Amino acid sequence: MRTEADPGRLQAQVLAWRAEGLRVGFVPTMGFLHAGHTSLMDLAATRCDRLVVSIFVNPMQFGPGEDLDVYPRDPQGDAAKCAAHGCDLLFTPEAFYPQDFSTRVILGGITDRLCGARRPGHFEGVTTVVARLFGVVQPHVAVFGEKDYQQLAVIRRMVRDLAMPIEILGGELIRDHDGLALSSRNKYLSAANRERALTLHRALYAMRVTEDRNVERLLDVGRDVLDVDRIDYLEIVDTSSLEPLTTMDRPARALVAAFLGKTRLIDNVAL
Ligand code: PAF
Repeated sequence: MRTEADPGRLQAQVLAWRAEGLRVGFVPTMGFLHAGHTSLMDLAATRCDRLVVSIFVNPMQFGPGEDLDVYPRDPQGDAAKCAAHGCDLLFTPEAFYPQDFSTRVILGGITDRLCGARRPGHFEGVTTVVARLFGVVQPHVAVFGEKDYQQLAVIRRMVRDLAMPIEILGGELIRDHDGLALSSRNKYLSAANRERALTLHRALYAMRVTEDRNVERLLDVGRDVLDVDRIDYLEIVDTSSLEPLTTMDRPARALVAAFLGKTRLIDNVAL
């Protein structure tokens, strides 16, 4: 595995591969990699000849007071995991944006709800960095986790709207042995809060198995199970538009975001 910090040199390598007719896969990450990330690499590796993984903690997608300064990092451990999961080229840019970078990619509608409504500017930061990463990396296929379900939907929409010739794949949400959705932010949880965090997936699964398909009553089932300091949102939405549903008349997904102390966790399941 080669590691490259310079966007120009990385792109030159990818273009050389493309010129040889090789299919390039891409997994963008912010590092502190866990089994959720490596499962995305494993999936990407089945769909490409050369795999690029990026590690860049993107300041643009963090709001004031969020955890940018303390976001966990483990460069050596990350590199070992990438090498073990089929990565050919690890992209670790230090200064990823040119000094006078002035472009923003902003999607309306789909970013106005859920995490987008609660974290102003977050998806603008995500779509801007991912658009630039796509420009640099030039992948044929890119993989994003279903754990960040809204992010996956937003990226699919951006790629469709801007006619980017990139196949977007969703990688399955990976859970710990006790059901907690894997997240780099789980590291912030005290033992007691980690135990309470288990109620996120328990709430979602209780909703999934409830026979009564009335949306309001399903949301009550979820709220009754949640033991958190604050529910940021608990919603049942259309699987692809992410519009809130009032009746369960089409494929639906339940999404939750909640705070335990200062830590904000998200989770989702198909209903
Ligand atoms: O999901 C993430 O880790 C980030 O939002 C991403 C897609 C790497 C963009 O910074």
